[in-house]
Amino acid sequence: REANKREAYEARKEEEPVCFRARVHHVRAISPKIMFLIFRQQIHTIQGVLAVQEGAISENMVRWAEGLSRETIVLAHGKLQKPREGQEEVSTTTVHNFEVRVEKLFVIAEPSVPLPFQVEIASRPKTTEDQEDYHQVRVGERTRLDNRVIDLRTPTRQAIFRIHAGLTRLFREFLDSRRFIEIHTSKFEESGVESGASLFRVDYFGRPAFLAQSPQVGKQMCIAADLERVYEVGPVFRAENSNTHRHLTEFTGLDVEMAIERDYTEVMDLLDQMILHILRGLQERYRDEIETVKLQFPHEDFVFLDKTPRLKFAEGIQLLKEAGWKEEDGSDPSEYEDLSTKAEQRLGQLVKEKYHTDYYILDKFPLSARPFYTMPDPNNDNFSNSFDFFLRGEEILSGGQRIHHALMLEQRMRSAGLDPDSMKEYVDGFRWGCPPHGGGGIGLERVIMLFLKLGNIRWASLFPRDPKSFSR
Ligand code: 4AD
Repeated sequence: REANKREAYEARKEEEPVCFRARVHHVRAISPKIMFLIFRQQIHTIQGVLAVQEGAISENMVRWAEGLSRETIVLAHGKLQKPREGQEEVSTTTVHNFEVRVEKLFVIAEPSVPLPFQVEIASRPKTTEDQEDYHQVRVGERTRLDNRVIDLRTPTRQAIFRIHAGLTRLFREFLDSRRFIEIHTSKFEESGVESGASLFRVDYFGRPAFLAQSPQVGKQMCIAADLERVYEVGPVFRAENSNTHRHLTEFTGLDVEMAIERDYTEVMDLLDQMILHILRGLQERYRDEIETVKLQFPHEDFVFLDKTPRLKFAEGIQLLKEAGWKEEDGSDPSEYEDLSTKAEQRLGQLVKEKYHTDYYILDKFPLSARPFYTMPDPNNDNFSNSFDFFLRGEEILSGGQRIHHALMLEQRMRSAGLDPDSMKEYVDGFRWGCPPHGGGGIGLERVIMLFLKLGNIRWASLFPRDPKSFSR
Protein backbone atom coordinates (compact mmCIF):
# COMPACT_ATOMS: atom_id res chain seq x y z
CA ARG A 1 0.00 0.00 0.00
CA GLU A 2 1.08 3.55 -0.71
CA ALA A 3 0.98 4.61 2.92
CA ASN A 4 3.35 1.79 3.78
CA LYS A 5 5.59 2.66 0.88
CA ARG A 6 5.85 6.20 2.21
CA GLU A 7 6.61 4.99 5.72
CA ALA A 8 9.19 2.64 4.28
CA TYR A 9 10.91 5.62 2.64
CA GLU A 10 10.73 7.66 5.79
CA ALA A 11 12.20 4.85 7.90
CA ARG A 12 15.37 4.96 5.82
CA LYS A 13 18.69 6.35 7.01
CA GLU A 14 21.02 9.00 5.72
CA GLU A 15 23.71 7.77 3.35
CA GLU A 16 21.64 4.69 2.54
CA PRO A 17 22.22 3.72 -1.11
CA VAL A 18 19.10 3.76 -3.32
CA CYS A 19 18.39 2.70 -6.87
CA PHE A 20 15.03 3.43 -8.45
CA ARG A 21 13.24 4.00 -11.72
CA ALA A 22 11.25 7.21 -12.06
CA ARG A 23 10.21 9.91 -14.45
CA VAL A 24 12.01 13.22 -14.61
CA HIS A 25 9.27 15.59 -13.54
CA HIS A 26 11.34 18.76 -13.58
CA VAL A 27 14.97 19.88 -13.94
CA ARG A 28 16.43 23.04 -12.49
CA ALA A 29 19.93 24.35 -13.24
CA ILE A 30 21.57 26.14 -10.30
CA SER A 31 25.16 26.67 -11.42
CA PRO A 32 27.59 24.88 -13.78
CA LYS A 33 28.42 22.59 -10.88
CA ILE A 34 25.04 21.73 -9.42
CA MET A 35 21.49 21.01 -10.57
CA PHE A 36 18.23 19.66 -9.10
CA LEU A 37 15.81 17.14 -10.53
CA ILE A 38 12.39 16.21 -9.28
CA PHE A 39 11.80 12.49 -9.75
CA ARG A 40 8.22 11.31 -9.90
CA GLN A 41 6.93 7.83 -9.16
CA GLN A 42 3.13 7.55 -9.34
CA ILE A 43 1.83 9.62 -6.39
CA HIS A 44 5.27 10.33 -4.90
CA THR A 45 8.02 12.75 -5.76
CA ILE A 46 11.53 13.10 -4.41
CA GLN A 47 14.19 15.67 -5.13
CA GLY A 48 17.53 14.62 -6.63
CA VAL A 49 20.74 16.67 -6.50
CA LEU A 50 23.48 16.23 -9.04
CA ALA A 51 26.70 18.03 -8.10
CA VAL A 52 30.21 17.94 -9.53
CA GLN A 53 32.39 15.56 -7.56
CA GLU A 54 36.08 14.91 -8.14
CA GLY A 55 36.58 11.67 -10.06
CA ALA A 56 32.85 10.79 -9.99
CA ILE A 57 30.64 13.47 -11.56
CA SER A 58 31.92 15.87 -14.18
CA GLU A 59 30.58 19.25 -15.26
CA ASN A 60 29.69 17.56 -18.56
CA MET A 61 27.42 15.13 -16.76
CA VAL A 62 25.66 17.95 -14.92
CA ARG A 63 25.14 19.73 -18.21
CA TRP A 64 23.84 16.54 -19.86
CA ALA A 65 21.36 15.99 -17.05
CA GLU A 66 20.11 19.58 -17.39
CA GLY A 67 19.18 18.72 -20.97
CA LEU A 68 16.95 15.78 -20.00
CA SER A 69 13.44 16.38 -21.19
CA ARG A 70 10.55 16.19 -18.79
CA GLU A 71 8.89 12.76 -18.58
CA THR A 72 12.11 10.92 -19.48
CA ILE A 73 12.23 7.59 -17.63
CA VAL A 74 15.53 7.20 -15.81
CA LEU A 75 17.25 4.73 -13.56
CA ALA A 76 18.90 6.64 -10.73
CA HIS A 77 21.55 5.44 -8.32
CA GLY A 78 22.50 7.55 -5.33
CA LYS A 79 22.53 8.07 -1.58
CA LEU A 80 19.87 9.54 0.69
CA GLN A 81 20.66 12.83 2.40
CA LYS A 82 18.77 15.40 4.46
CA PRO A 83 17.41 18.24 2.33
CA ARG A 84 18.65 21.74 2.99
CA GLU A 85 16.47 24.04 5.09
CA GLY A 86 13.75 26.01 3.33
CA GLN A 87 13.49 23.67 0.40
CA GLU A 88 10.34 24.07 -1.64
CA GLU A 89 7.62 21.56 -0.94
CA VAL A 90 6.27 20.00 -4.11
CA SER A 91 3.21 18.21 -2.80
CA THR A 92 1.93 16.31 0.20
CA THR A 93 3.00 13.15 -1.50
CA THR A 94 6.62 14.27 -1.58
CA VAL A 95 8.96 12.14 0.46
CA HIS A 96 9.92 14.98 2.80
CA ASN A 97 12.67 13.53 4.90
CA PHE A 98 15.19 12.96 2.21
CA GLU A 99 16.57 13.98 -1.09
CA VAL A 100 18.79 11.81 -3.26
CA ARG A 101 22.42 12.70 -4.00
CA VAL A 102 22.54 11.29 -7.50
CA GLU A 103 25.64 9.31 -8.45
CA LYS A 104 24.58 7.63 -11.67
CA LEU A 105 21.72 8.30 -14.01
CA PHE A 106 20.68 6.15 -16.97
CA VAL A 107 18.04 7.01 -19.53
CA ILE A 108 15.62 4.12 -20.06
CA ALA A 109 13.09 5.80 -22.36
CA GLU A 110 12.29 9.31 -23.41
CA PRO A 111 9.47 11.09 -25.23
CA SER A 112 10.13 11.33 -28.96
CA VAL A 113 7.72 14.23 -29.47
CA PRO A 114 6.89 17.25 -27.31
CA LEU A 115 4.07 16.49 -24.89
CA PRO A 116 0.77 18.38 -25.41
CA PHE A 117 0.85 19.49 -21.77
CA GLN A 118 2.86 18.99 -18.63
CA VAL A 119 1.98 16.61 -15.88
CA GLU A 120 0.83 18.78 -12.99
CA ILE A 121 1.34 18.21 -9.31
CA ALA A 122 -0.93 20.19 -7.01
CA SER A 123 0.99 21.85 -4.17
CA ARG A 124 -0.28 22.63 -0.75
CA PRO A 125 -1.24 26.31 -0.45
CA LYS A 126 1.24 28.28 1.65
CA THR A 127 -0.81 31.43 2.06
CA THR A 128 -4.50 32.23 1.88
CA GLU A 129 -3.90 33.97 -1.44
CA ASP A 130 -2.40 30.79 -2.85
CA GLN A 131 -5.51 28.99 -1.66
CA GLU A 132 -7.44 30.87 -4.32
CA ASP A 133 -5.79 29.30 -7.30
CA TYR A 134 -4.05 26.18 -6.21
CA HIS A 135 -6.95 23.95 -7.12
CA GLN A 136 -7.22 25.43 -10.57
CA VAL A 137 -6.48 22.98 -13.31
CA ARG A 138 -4.42 24.81 -15.86
CA VAL A 139 -5.19 22.44 -18.72
CA GLY A 140 -8.75 22.15 -20.05
CA GLU A 141 -10.90 19.06 -19.56
CA ARG A 142 -11.14 18.12 -23.24
CA THR A 143 -7.36 18.41 -23.78
CA ARG A 144 -6.80 16.15 -20.79
CA LEU A 145 -9.32 13.57 -21.93
CA ASP A 146 -7.99 13.63 -25.50
CA ASN A 147 -4.49 12.95 -24.15
CA ARG A 148 -5.56 10.71 -21.31
CA VAL A 149 -2.30 8.76 -20.99
CA ILE A 150 -0.46 11.91 -19.97
CA ASP A 151 -3.32 13.07 -17.78
CA LEU A 152 -3.30 9.69 -16.00
CA ARG A 153 0.31 10.25 -14.93
CA THR A 154 -0.68 13.05 -12.54
CA PRO A 155 -0.63 12.06 -8.87
CA THR A 156 -4.35 12.94 -8.54
CA ARG A 157 -5.29 10.45 -11.24
CA GLN A 158 -2.90 7.84 -9.90
CA ALA A 159 -4.63 8.18 -6.53
CA ILE A 160 -8.14 7.97 -8.08
CA PHE A 161 -7.35 4.68 -9.81
CA ARG A 162 -5.77 3.17 -6.72
CA ILE A 163 -9.03 3.97 -4.89
CA HIS A 164 -10.90 2.48 -7.87
CA ALA A 165 -8.99 -0.79 -7.51
CA GLY A 166 -9.48 -0.67 -3.74
CA LEU A 167 -13.22 -0.34 -4.16
CA THR A 168 -13.57 -3.47 -6.32
CA ARG A 169 -11.28 -5.33 -3.92
CA LEU A 170 -13.52 -4.35 -0.96
CA PHE A 171 -16.63 -5.32 -2.92
CA ARG A 172 -15.24 -8.78 -3.67
CA GLU A 173 -13.81 -9.17 -0.16
CA PHE A 174 -17.19 -8.56 1.47
CA LEU A 175 -19.18 -10.81 -0.86
CA ASP A 176 -16.65 -13.64 -0.81
CA SER A 177 -16.90 -13.64 2.98
CA ARG A 178 -20.69 -14.02 2.63
CA ARG A 179 -20.52 -17.13 0.40
CA PHE A 180 -21.17 -15.35 -2.90
CA ILE A 181 -19.52 -16.56 -6.08
CA GLU A 182 -18.20 -14.33 -8.83
CA ILE A 183 -19.79 -14.82 -12.25
CA HIS A 184 -19.16 -13.48 -15.76
CA THR A 185 -22.32 -13.21 -17.83
CA SER A 186 -22.49 -12.64 -21.59
CA LYS A 187 -22.45 -9.11 -22.91
CA PHE A 188 -24.48 -10.10 -26.00
CA GLU A 189 -28.21 -9.98 -25.34
CA GLU A 190 -31.33 -10.70 -27.36
CA SER A 191 -33.22 -7.78 -25.84
CA GLY A 192 -32.97 -4.91 -23.35
CA VAL A 193 -34.39 -4.99 -19.85
CA GLU A 194 -33.59 -1.66 -18.19
CA SER A 195 -36.49 0.69 -18.89
CA GLY A 196 -35.48 4.14 -20.02
CA ALA A 197 -31.99 3.14 -21.16
CA SER A 198 -31.36 2.60 -24.86
CA LEU A 199 -29.54 -0.22 -26.58
CA PHE A 200 -26.40 -0.49 -28.68
CA ARG A 201 -27.28 -2.79 -31.58
CA VAL A 202 -24.62 -5.07 -33.02
CA ASP A 203 -24.56 -7.33 -36.05
CA TYR A 204 -24.39 -10.90 -34.73
CA PHE A 205 -23.70 -12.99 -37.87
CA GLY A 206 -26.44 -11.20 -39.75
CA ARG A 207 -28.86 -11.29 -36.83
CA PRO A 208 -29.49 -8.38 -34.47
CA ALA A 209 -28.10 -8.55 -30.94
CA PHE A 210 -27.52 -5.90 -28.29
CA LEU A 211 -24.76 -5.00 -25.86
CA ALA A 212 -25.95 -5.79 -22.34
CA GLN A 213 -27.47 -2.81 -20.47
CA SER A 214 -26.77 -4.67 -17.24
CA PRO A 215 -26.11 -8.28 -16.18
CA GLN A 216 -29.72 -8.41 -14.95
CA VAL A 217 -30.82 -11.32 -17.16
CA GLY A 218 -27.65 -13.35 -16.62
CA LYS A 219 -27.54 -12.91 -12.86
CA GLN A 220 -31.23 -13.79 -12.45
CA MET A 221 -30.73 -16.90 -14.59
CA CYS A 222 -27.92 -17.92 -12.25
CA ILE A 223 -30.42 -17.85 -9.39
CA ALA A 224 -32.87 -19.94 -11.46
CA ALA A 225 -29.89 -22.31 -11.98
CA ASP A 226 -29.42 -22.62 -8.19
CA LEU A 227 -26.14 -20.71 -7.88
CA GLU A 228 -27.84 -19.03 -4.87
CA ARG A 229 -25.61 -15.96 -4.33
CA VAL A 230 -23.70 -14.33 -7.19
CA TYR A 231 -21.89 -11.12 -8.05
CA GLU A 232 -20.25 -9.64 -11.10
CA VAL A 233 -17.85 -6.82 -11.93
CA GLY A 234 -18.22 -6.02 -15.60
CA PRO A 235 -18.94 -3.51 -18.37
CA VAL A 236 -22.45 -2.12 -18.81
CA PHE A 237 -23.52 -0.40 -22.03
CA ARG A 238 -26.13 2.36 -22.28
CA ALA A 239 -26.89 4.09 -25.56
CA GLU A 240 -28.25 7.15 -23.75
CA ASN A 241 -27.48 10.45 -25.41
CA SER A 242 -27.07 12.04 -21.98
CA ASN A 243 -24.29 14.58 -21.86
CA THR A 244 -24.31 15.07 -18.11
CA HIS A 245 -21.79 14.98 -15.27
CA ARG A 246 -22.98 11.50 -14.28
CA HIS A 247 -23.72 9.49 -17.43
CA LEU A 248 -21.35 7.35 -19.47
CA THR A 249 -22.25 5.12 -22.41
CA GLU A 250 -20.08 2.38 -20.91
CA PHE A 251 -19.52 2.02 -17.19
CA THR A 252 -18.47 -0.66 -14.74
CA GLY A 253 -21.35 -2.43 -13.05
CA LEU A 254 -20.95 -4.01 -9.63
CA ASP A 255 -23.89 -6.38 -9.51
CA VAL A 256 -25.25 -8.64 -6.82
CA GLU A 257 -28.09 -11.20 -6.88
CA MET A 258 -29.22 -13.61 -4.14
CA ALA A 259 -31.96 -16.03 -3.25
CA ILE A 260 -34.18 -14.70 -0.46
CA GLU A 261 -35.19 -16.72 2.59
CA ARG A 262 -37.43 -14.28 4.45
CA ASP A 263 -38.20 -11.09 2.49
CA TYR A 264 -36.54 -8.48 0.32
CA THR A 265 -35.18 -6.47 3.27
CA GLU A 266 -32.52 -9.23 3.58
CA VAL A 267 -31.12 -7.99 0.28
CA MET A 268 -31.29 -4.37 1.39
CA ASP A 269 -29.52 -5.23 4.68
CA LEU A 270 -26.75 -7.12 2.95
CA LEU A 271 -26.17 -4.42 0.33
CA ASP A 272 -26.14 -1.77 3.06
CA GLN A 273 -23.51 -3.68 5.05
CA MET A 274 -21.52 -4.08 1.87
CA ILE A 275 -21.56 -0.32 1.15
CA LEU A 276 -20.54 0.40 4.76
CA HIS A 277 -17.66 -2.09 4.41
CA ILE A 278 -16.55 -0.31 1.24
CA LEU A 279 -16.82 3.21 2.72
CA ARG A 280 -14.96 2.22 5.89
CA GLY A 281 -12.32 0.32 3.96
CA LEU A 282 -11.65 3.24 1.62
CA GLN A 283 -11.32 5.70 4.49
CA GLU A 284 -9.02 3.42 6.47
CA ARG A 285 -6.81 2.07 3.72
CA TYR A 286 -6.58 4.95 1.27
CA ARG A 287 -5.92 8.01 3.46
CA ASP A 288 -2.88 9.14 1.45
CA GLU A 289 -4.71 8.79 -1.84
CA ILE A 290 -7.79 10.65 -0.57
CA GLU A 291 -5.57 13.52 0.62
CA THR A 292 -3.82 13.58 -2.76
CA VAL A 293 -7.17 13.82 -4.57
CA LYS A 294 -8.30 16.62 -2.24
CA LEU A 295 -5.42 18.80 -3.42
CA GLN A 296 -7.15 19.10 -6.77
CA PHE A 297 -10.74 18.28 -5.87
CA PRO A 298 -11.28 19.86 -2.45
CA HIS A 299 -14.00 18.21 -0.42
CA GLU A 300 -15.23 17.47 3.05
CA ASP A 301 -14.56 13.94 4.25
CA PHE A 302 -17.41 11.60 3.43
CA VAL A 303 -19.77 11.17 6.39
CA PHE A 304 -21.76 8.01 7.09
CA LEU A 305 -23.42 6.48 10.15
CA ASP A 306 -23.17 3.01 11.68
CA LYS A 307 -26.89 2.70 11.07
CA THR A 308 -27.89 4.00 7.65
CA PRO A 309 -31.11 6.07 7.60
CA ARG A 310 -33.81 4.35 5.56
CA LEU A 311 -36.72 6.39 4.32
CA LYS A 312 -39.72 5.22 2.39
CA PHE A 313 -39.99 6.91 -1.01
CA ALA A 314 -43.25 8.56 0.18
CA GLU A 315 -41.41 9.94 3.25
CA GLY A 316 -38.77 11.41 0.97
CA ILE A 317 -41.47 13.12 -1.06
CA GLN A 318 -42.98 14.40 2.19
CA LEU A 319 -39.62 15.90 3.23
CA LEU A 320 -39.35 17.65 -0.12
CA LYS A 321 -42.88 19.02 0.15
CA GLU A 322 -42.30 20.28 3.70
CA ALA A 323 -39.19 22.10 2.46
CA GLY A 324 -41.29 23.78 -0.24
CA TRP A 325 -39.56 21.99 -3.12
CA LYS A 326 -41.23 22.38 -6.51
CA GLU A 327 -40.48 20.62 -9.80
CA GLU A 328 -39.17 22.73 -12.69
CA ASP A 329 -42.71 23.13 -14.06
CA GLY A 330 -43.86 24.44 -10.66
CA SER A 331 -45.69 21.26 -9.65
CA ASP A 332 -45.37 19.42 -6.35
CA PRO A 333 -43.20 16.28 -6.32
CA SER A 334 -45.33 13.18 -6.80
CA GLU A 335 -45.46 10.02 -4.71
CA TYR A 336 -46.13 7.97 -7.84
CA GLU A 337 -43.29 9.13 -10.09
CA ASP A 338 -39.51 8.87 -10.04
CA LEU A 339 -37.36 11.67 -8.61
CA SER A 340 -35.70 14.11 -10.99
CA THR A 341 -31.92 14.61 -10.60
CA LYS A 342 -32.52 18.01 -8.98
CA ALA A 343 -35.11 16.60 -6.56
CA GLU A 344 -32.65 13.82 -5.68
CA GLN A 345 -29.96 16.37 -4.90
CA ARG A 346 -32.31 18.54 -2.82
CA LEU A 347 -33.49 15.50 -0.87
CA GLY A 348 -29.83 14.60 -0.24
CA GLN A 349 -29.33 18.05 1.34
CA LEU A 350 -32.45 17.67 3.47
CA VAL A 351 -31.37 14.23 4.67
CA LYS A 352 -27.91 15.60 5.47
CA GLU A 353 -29.45 18.40 7.56
CA LYS A 354 -31.74 16.00 9.39
CA TYR A 355 -29.52 12.93 9.85
CA HIS A 356 -25.99 14.31 9.32
CA THR A 357 -24.97 11.71 6.77
CA ASP A 358 -23.92 11.61 3.11
CA TYR A 359 -25.24 8.08 2.68
CA TYR A 360 -28.85 6.98 2.97
CA ILE A 361 -31.42 4.58 1.47
CA LEU A 362 -34.78 5.28 -0.13
CA ASP A 363 -37.11 2.27 -0.05
CA LYS A 364 -40.44 1.32 -1.69
CA PHE A 365 -40.22 3.09 -5.02
CA PRO A 366 -43.34 3.64 -7.14
CA LEU A 367 -43.86 0.58 -9.35
CA SER A 368 -44.25 2.74 -12.47
CA ALA A 369 -40.71 4.09 -11.99
CA ARG A 370 -39.12 0.62 -12.03
CA PRO A 371 -38.30 -1.95 -14.74
CA PHE A 372 -40.82 -4.74 -15.49
CA TYR A 373 -38.90 -7.38 -13.51
CA THR A 374 -39.46 -5.54 -10.18
CA MET A 375 -41.70 -7.20 -7.57
CA PRO A 376 -44.77 -5.07 -6.71
CA ASP A 377 -45.38 -4.35 -3.03
CA PRO A 378 -47.87 -7.08 -2.01
CA ASN A 379 -49.70 -4.58 0.21
CA ASN A 380 -50.02 -1.75 -2.31
CA ASP A 381 -49.25 -2.32 -5.96
CA ASN A 382 -48.69 1.38 -6.65
CA PHE A 383 -45.35 0.71 -4.98
CA SER A 384 -42.66 -1.94 -5.25
CA ASN A 385 -40.23 -3.93 -3.13
CA SER A 386 -37.35 -1.87 -4.46
CA PHE A 387 -34.89 0.73 -3.27
CA ASP A 388 -32.11 3.13 -4.29
CA PHE A 389 -28.96 4.02 -2.33
CA PHE A 390 -27.64 7.58 -2.43
CA LEU A 391 -24.23 9.16 -1.82
CA ARG A 392 -24.07 12.95 -1.46
CA GLY A 393 -27.61 13.17 -2.84
CA GLU A 394 -27.09 11.11 -6.02
CA GLU A 395 -28.09 7.55 -6.83
CA ILE A 396 -25.32 4.95 -6.82
CA LEU A 397 -27.32 1.74 -6.52
CA SER A 398 -30.72 0.51 -7.51
CA GLY A 399 -32.08 -2.81 -6.42
CA GLY A 400 -34.97 -4.80 -5.05
CA GLN A 401 -36.89 -8.00 -5.23
CA ARG A 402 -37.57 -9.54 -8.65
CA ILE A 403 -40.68 -11.28 -9.94
CA HIS A 404 -40.04 -15.03 -9.85
CA HIS A 405 -43.51 -16.26 -10.98
CA ALA A 406 -43.52 -16.77 -14.76
CA LEU A 407 -47.18 -15.78 -15.24
CA MET A 408 -46.83 -12.56 -13.26
CA LEU A 409 -43.63 -11.74 -15.15
CA GLU A 410 -45.26 -12.29 -18.54
CA GLN A 411 -48.13 -10.05 -17.54
CA ARG A 412 -45.76 -7.27 -16.40
CA MET A 413 -43.75 -7.63 -19.61
CA ARG A 414 -46.84 -7.22 -21.73
CA SER A 415 -47.96 -4.14 -19.84
CA ALA A 416 -44.46 -2.69 -20.41
CA GLY A 417 -44.94 -3.33 -24.17
CA LEU A 418 -42.54 -6.31 -24.29
CA ASP A 419 -43.28 -9.62 -25.96
CA PRO A 420 -42.31 -12.47 -23.57
CA ASP A 421 -41.38 -14.60 -26.61
CA SER A 422 -38.65 -12.09 -27.47
CA MET A 423 -36.91 -13.14 -24.22
CA LYS A 424 -37.69 -16.84 -24.23
CA GLU A 425 -34.48 -17.92 -22.50
CA TYR A 426 -35.18 -15.54 -19.62
CA VAL A 427 -38.87 -16.36 -19.19
CA ASP A 428 -38.17 -20.11 -19.43
CA GLY A 429 -35.87 -19.73 -16.41
CA PHE A 430 -38.95 -18.82 -14.36
CA ARG A 431 -41.29 -21.30 -16.06
CA TRP A 432 -38.95 -24.05 -14.86
CA GLY A 433 -39.14 -22.78 -11.25
CA CYS A 434 -37.00 -20.13 -9.60
CA PRO A 435 -36.66 -19.21 -5.89
CA PRO A 436 -37.66 -15.76 -4.59
CA HIS A 437 -34.67 -13.50 -5.09
CA GLY A 438 -33.38 -9.96 -5.25
CA GLY A 439 -30.25 -7.92 -5.75
CA GLY A 440 -28.86 -4.61 -6.86
CA GLY A 441 -26.54 -2.89 -9.27
CA ILE A 442 -23.97 -0.17 -8.56
CA GLY A 443 -22.23 2.14 -11.00
CA LEU A 444 -18.59 1.99 -9.92
CA GLU A 445 -17.61 5.32 -11.50
CA ARG A 446 -20.58 7.05 -9.82
CA VAL A 447 -19.43 5.88 -6.41
CA ILE A 448 -15.88 7.10 -7.05
CA MET A 449 -17.11 10.44 -8.41
CA LEU A 450 -19.38 11.07 -5.42
CA PHE A 451 -17.12 9.71 -2.69
CA LEU A 452 -14.24 11.90 -3.91
CA LYS A 453 -16.50 14.75 -5.09
CA LEU A 454 -14.89 14.82 -8.52
CA GLY A 455 -17.88 16.67 -9.99
CA ASN A 456 -17.66 14.77 -13.31
CA ILE A 457 -17.89 11.01 -13.83
CA ARG A 458 -15.28 11.14 -16.61
CA TRP A 459 -12.51 11.63 -14.03
CA ALA A 460 -13.57 8.32 -12.48
CA SER A 461 -13.26 6.33 -15.73
CA LEU A 462 -9.88 5.37 -17.21
CA PHE A 463 -10.85 5.97 -20.84
CA PRO A 464 -14.35 7.45 -20.56
CA ARG A 465 -16.93 6.79 -23.25
CA ASP A 466 -19.66 9.39 -23.61
CA PRO A 467 -21.83 10.33 -26.61
CA LYS A 468 -19.04 12.63 -27.83
CA SER A 469 -16.32 9.94 -27.87
CA PHE A 470 -14.84 9.12 -31.31
CA SER A 471 -16.03 12.47 -32.66
CA ARG A 472 -12.61 13.69 -33.77
O1 4AD B 1 -30.40 1.99 -12.07
P1 4AD B 1 -29.80 1.03 -13.04
O2 4AD B 1 -30.17 1.23 -14.47
O3 4AD B 1 -30.17 -0.41 -12.54
C1 4AD B 1 -29.81 -1.60 -13.11
O4 4AD B 1 -28.99 -1.72 -14.01
C2 4AD B 1 -30.40 -2.78 -12.44
N1 4AD B 1 -30.18 -3.98 -13.26
C3 4AD B 1 -29.81 -2.93 -11.09
C4 4AD B 1 -30.44 -4.02 -10.30
O5 4AD B 1 -29.77 -4.96 -9.95
N2 4AD B 1 -31.69 -3.87 -10.03
O6 4AD B 1 -28.21 1.08 -12.90
C5 4AD B 1 -27.59 0.75 -11.71
C6 4AD B 1 -26.58 1.82 -11.32
C7 4AD B 1 -27.19 3.18 -11.04
O7 4AD B 1 -27.62 3.28 -9.70
C8 4AD B 1 -26.03 4.11 -11.32
O8 4AD B 1 -25.15 4.13 -10.19
C9 4AD B 1 -25.31 3.42 -12.44
O9 4AD B 1 -25.70 2.06 -12.40
N3 4AD B 1 -25.63 3.97 -13.76
C10 4AD B 1 -24.78 4.67 -14.53
N4 4AD B 1 -23.50 5.04 -14.32
C11 4AD B 1 -22.89 5.74 -15.30
N5 4AD B 1 -23.47 6.07 -16.47
C12 4AD B 1 -24.76 5.72 -16.73
N6 4AD B 1 -25.32 6.02 -17.91
C13 4AD B 1 -25.47 4.98 -15.74
N7 4AD B 1 -26.72 4.47 -15.65
C14 4AD B 1 -26.79 3.86 -14.44
